[in-house]
Parts: sequence; C-alpha cells; structure tokens
Amino acid sequence: MRVFSGIRPTGNLHLGNYLGAMRQWITIQEKEDCVFCVVDLHAITTPYDPKNLKANIFELAIDYLAAGLNPEKCILFIQSSVKEHAELAWLLGTVTPLGELKRMTQFKDKSKQHPEYVNAGLLNYPILMAADILLYQTDIVPIGKDQQQHVELTREIVRDFNKRFGQILKEPRALLPQVGDKIMSLTEPDKKMSKTGNPKSFIGLFEEPESIKAKIMAAVTDTGKDIKFNPVKKPGISNLLTIYSLASGKPIEELEKQFEKKRYSDFKNSLAEYLAEYLKPFSKKRKELLTREVYVNDILRRGSQKAATIAQSTMQEIKTAMGL
Ligand code: AMP
Ligand code: TRP
Repeated sequence: MRVFSGIRPTGNLHLGNYLGAMRQWITIQEKEDCVFCVVDLHAITTPYDPKNLKANIFELAIDYLAAGLNPEKCILFIQSSVKEHAELAWLLGTVTPLGELKRMTQFKDKSKQHPEYVNAGLLNYPILMAADILLYQTDIVPIGKDQQQHVELTREIVRDFNKRFGQILKEPRALLPQVGDKIMSLTEPDKKMSKTGNPKSFIGLFEEPESIKAKIMAAVTDTGKDIKFNPVKKPGISNLLTIYSLASGKPIEELEKQFEKKRYSDFKNSLAEYLAEYLKPFSKKRKELLTREVYVNDILRRGSQKAATIAQSTMQEIKTAMGL
C-alpha cells in the first residue's frame, strides 16, 4: 500500500507532531511503500520570513531523519522540488467547490489568527494537500486529528473527479493513532499543542531535559487532586496521562493505579523524567546529522527523483483524462 504524509517547515517539531503523526510514519515505513514530504509550499500560506525558509526546510528534513525515518525504506523529499504538486493543485481547483474550502476549520482558524494575511493560497491549501496525496495514488495518510477534515475533502474531490473523468484517482483514507491524535497545549489544555504561541505551551522534540522538566512542572492541571483520565472534566491531567502513556509504554489505566494516592507534583516529576529519557536519542541523532549536510542533500535529491517519476506518470494520466 502507498502511504503519503507531510509536515510544514514552520518551526520546531513538537511532541504533538511526533505523537500524532510521525510516530505512525516510523512504524509504517517498515511494511508499506512510504513517501514523506517537507511541504514548503504549504508553509508560505501563513506569514513567514523568506530569509529563514531555506534553513527551516533543510532542518525539517534533518528532523525527519533524527526522528527515525529511514531513507532506505521510504522516499523523502521537498514538495517544491517536484513541480507536479503545484500543477495538479491547479487542475484539482477546477473540480473543488468553493463552499467546501470556506468551510474548512483550519482556514477559519488561520484567517482569524492572521486577519492581515488571508490570501487565496490559504483558502486553496486543502487543494494542494489533495494534490500531494493523489499524485502518489495514496492509500493511507497518517496524520493527527486536525488534518482529518482535509483528507475527507480529498476523498470528495476524488469521487467528483472520477465521476467526470473516469476511474483515474485512488480514494485515500486517513490513519489516526489510537492514542495521541490530538495532543493538547500545556498552558491551555482545551487547545491543541501547536508551534505558534506561548513557548511554554509545547515541548519541542529536541528540547533539553531541564527545559522539558520546567514545562511539565508548570503545565496547567485541573482542580481536585485525582490523577484520572477524563478529557472533559480533567483536560490538563488527561493530556499529561496520554503523553506519559505514550512515552513510557504503560497503559493509562495502569498509570491511574500507580498514581492513585500520589500528588500532581509526584506525577509530573515522574512524567518529566520519562519524557526527557524518551526524547534524548532524538537530539543526539539530530546533532550528528547537522554536521552531514552533503549526506542529507543527497538523500533529498534521490528522493526528489523517485517522487518525480511517480508524480509525472500520474500527472500524464490525469491530463489525458481531462482532455489536456
Ligand atoms: P503541522 O505542524 O501543522 O504541519 O502538522 C504536521 C502533522 O502533525 C499533521 O499530521 C498534524 O495533524 C499533526 N499534529 C499537529 N499538531 C498536533 C497535535 N497537537 N496533536 C496531534 N497531532 C498533531
Ligand atoms: N496540511 C498538513 C498539516 O498542516 C500538512 C500536509 C500537507 C499534509 N500536505 C499533506 C499531510 C499531505 C498529509 C498529506 O499538518
């Protein structure tokens, strides 16, 4: 089966990116035919500094490798290096209803966040994402919950396209992790963890142990003192339990028992230790890769060639079907 996913080079990877999306990539690359992409064309739909973009793109590629993507087992490349992504986005734009785009939660959120920068690219963002997925005749898209709506729209685009032009495109499905599909902010546990905003609200994948500990200890918890999983009544503690469970491999029920008579601070201390240990190998690998620029560029060049071969072949079929 073909697998495709990507992350925007808009800042440091955080625990939400890893637990929601990338952790699935690392396991699935062992058994399926995977394509992973640094989606730089998506990154320019929100305010950014062109002076930093190139470095951010390259560093995200390094982060992919540091997090465990194996270039022998998957195709790894940069979106803008395969021009068919932008080309297919244009074609798909002609079969995507405007109303659907305006309805997308991410478009509404980002428009509110940056009212001075509501460009057409931001509205068309899901069409480019559909192009990314469909160029590779993808079966599975491993993502966090916030991207599920975009995959649903992609499926609708496929159905409309195939109805008009013949059975050309494959209908993909989203793959969400059973636990951790929405990691919440440490400071506002009713919002998802994201790269923007208060630095205390997220934990970077490559953060130092002291800083991880400080952020966990300062994380907002709930009134009461029970360490119980209940996302509605206890969003803060439930989020920390989820993170603890994923970092330690212990089921949430076991953690609830282990900390039954303990205080929030005992629980947080223990979590901080597990988490720092869990993330340690990532930083080590990243530091090493930062010194191997030629090696990383070579991986990206080869990835781009392989991706382009697949993309060009799908593009040809699509153009023929559309009468171009
Ligand atoms: P982004 O950083 O928005 O490009 O997101 C990259 C991937 O990480 C996507 O698959 C998102 O669904 C996933 N992701 C981002 N934030 C979170 C979060 N707080 N919890 C779970 N998954 C997330
Ligand atoms: N829109 C996704 C996000 O913000 C990133 C992305 C772009 C993506 N193209 C994709 C994810 C294709 C999966 C498949 O997280």
